[in-house]
Amino acid sequence: MSIEMSINGGVFSIVLAREEKKNAITAAMYQAMADAIKQAEADPAALVILIRGGEKTFTAGNDLEDFLKRPPSSEEFSAQQFIRGLSHAAKPVVAAVAGPAVGIGTTMLLHCDLVYAADNARLSAPFTQLGLCPGFASSLLLPRLTGYQRAAEKVLLGEPFLAAEAQEMGLVNKVLPAAELMAFATAQAAKLAALPPVSVRTSKKLMRGPLMESIKAQIAEENEAFGAMLNAPEAKEAFTAFFEKRRPDFSRFS
Ligand code: COA
Repeated sequence: MSIEMSINGGVFSIVLAREEKKNAITAAMYQAMADAIKQAEADPAALVILIRGGEKTFTAGNDLEDFLKRPPSSEEFSAQQFIRGLSHAAKPVVAAVAGPAVGIGTTMLLHCDLVYAADNARLSAPFTQLGLCPGFASSLLLPRLTGYQRAAEKVLLGEPFLAAEAQEMGLVNKVLPAAELMAFATAQAAKLAALPPVSVRTSKKLMRGPLMESIKAQIAEENEAFGAMLNAPEAKEAFTAFFEKRRPDFSRFS
């Protein structure tokens, strides 16, 4: 399944473990992550959710081969269940990001409560480069967090940016040497797990609650656009070019 789960001292860890494919997330992995969040939310022994990849890679985002072989419709897309689970999680979520964090690897961070990044982290939202558009309410949350121009640069150009810039933008709490990241993020999660759980969850709900309706509406709008674009020739060209290890050619599109 390429997702590993464990619980230790109140911290429920969800680990992306498909290093040979840069932790690209398949439909089965999304489903496993959605199920893991459900499990963590239901388990009284789990007080904090920690999402991480390895020391070299967070995730290369959606598995493009999956997209090419069987483009999902927005309803059946198991990423939706993961997205819903993460954005509605009552328990606090800590993310530890090292190496590439592409697409959903960056946008999922907007739904986490504490985000720690290694100095080798390289974030990106390359949706336009793939003939797609942002998802996961990032078109709402990113401009709100960083200001419009900064979000527009990251989303419209889709170029990668480093952990230090992500911290400056407010997307990352702290940048650490790669070798120290996992221990630090785990310690922060353990600190949260030692606090009164109802107090932590209520505080989170008070901060996130007012946005939930807007997040839901934005995701619905994004999904409609994303679903149509996923089946369009621009995305096909981008995905095919990636596997043919060439630059995509969008010159025939207007
Ligand atoms: N989907 C499917 N396979 C992927 C993938 C993805 N999103 N990202 C990487 N892979 C595969 C590559 O095809 C390659 O497989 P191979 O060894 O069988 O050829 C393997 O993972 C290693 O990737 P590679 O590109 O050689 O690693 P890298 O270190 O040079 O670059 C990335 C890492 C993440 C920068 C680069 O892989 C990348 O840009 N991936 C695509 C990201 C993307 O567009 N994601 C979709 C967002 S919606």
